[in-house]
Amino acid sequence: MSSQEQTQSNAELEIETEIQSERSDRETRADEPVLEVRELDVHYGDERALQPVNADIPEKKVTAIIGPSGCGKSTFLRCVNRMNDQIDVCSVGGELYFHGKNVYDDDVDPVALRRKIGQVFQRPNPFPKSIYDNVAYGLRIQGKTDDLDTRVERALRRAALWSEVEDRLDESALDLSGGQQQRLCIARAIAPDPEVLLMDEPASALDPIATAKVEDLIEDLAENYTVVIVTHNMQQAARISDKTAVFLTGGELVEFDDTTTIFENPANQAVEDYITGKFG
Ligand SMILES: Nc1ncnc2c1ncn2[C@@H]1O[C@H](COP(=O)(O)OP(=O)(O)OP(=O)(O)O)[C@@H](O)[C@H]1O
Ligand SMILES: [Mg+2]
Repeated sequence: MSSQEQTQSNAELEIETEIQSERSDRETRADEPVLEVRELDVHYGDERALQPVNADIPEKKVTAIIGPSGCGKSTFLRCVNRMNDQIDVCSVGGELYFHGKNVYDDDVDPVALRRKIGQVFQRPNPFPKSIYDNVAYGLRIQGKTDDLDTRVERALRRAALWSEVEDRLDESALDLSGGQQQRLCIARAIAPDPEVLLMDEPASALDPIATAKVEDLIEDLAENYTVVIVTHNMQQAARISDKTAVFLTGGELVEFDDTTTIFENPANQAVEDYITGKFG
């Protein structure tokens, strides 16, 4: 091993150790759901977008959210890291506990919360910066700039993009293909090592090959992260998720259970009708 490689692997080891010690703090509570949703409801002005929602979202699993257009899936997802704060007419009631702390308490800083609960949007939205600077962005904000190269590489490897970009890190992220841009956005979201990753239809703008890559990636991510993903693609939900939440028109969470139960033996007739394409 060259001395450069040795330095690199020492740096990787230090970052892994730092992450492991953060994780062991978390794992003392591993039996509890990471997110507990209690009577959470949302209005836009006078219009109700979500009926009171109750759900426990398990740690280090993939939870899919499915349902017809306009049923409140994105609204629900945005509640989790308080992205709805940015919509003036939006008001949120009820509680949403992250490791037992209500994220709507007055003393919660939404910016700090979003460091722990990151997100990836439907359309890839890289910054008009280099590939490297996109991934380094959140790390720089958090002051995690020691061994930045190693951290950037690690995030790009985890996002299954490294081999495609390692020789062009200084090029503009906007020159990547759509599928590469989306994996770059995933790398950017995971670089600061959040605990929860919210994904709103992350593969809907991608071709089947890029979609397959993103799906594989999501399954891998669940080893380290809690993933909550909105998708319109039933097969995708069935393939990649452990739990599935079904929202139906009117913003009601109608059924939330193991994905196999939802797809093979749902308790609710309307859920069965939706899944088999009879409604929606
Ligand atoms: N910023 C907003 N201002 C006002 N109403 C909104 C806003 N965002 C969403 N809504 C309304 O809230 C309801 C739920 O919308 P939401 O975007 O959460 O649905 P969705 O399930 O994500 O739909 P889709 O599958 O089409 O993305 C809809 O009636 C929508 O019109
Ligand atoms: Mg949506």
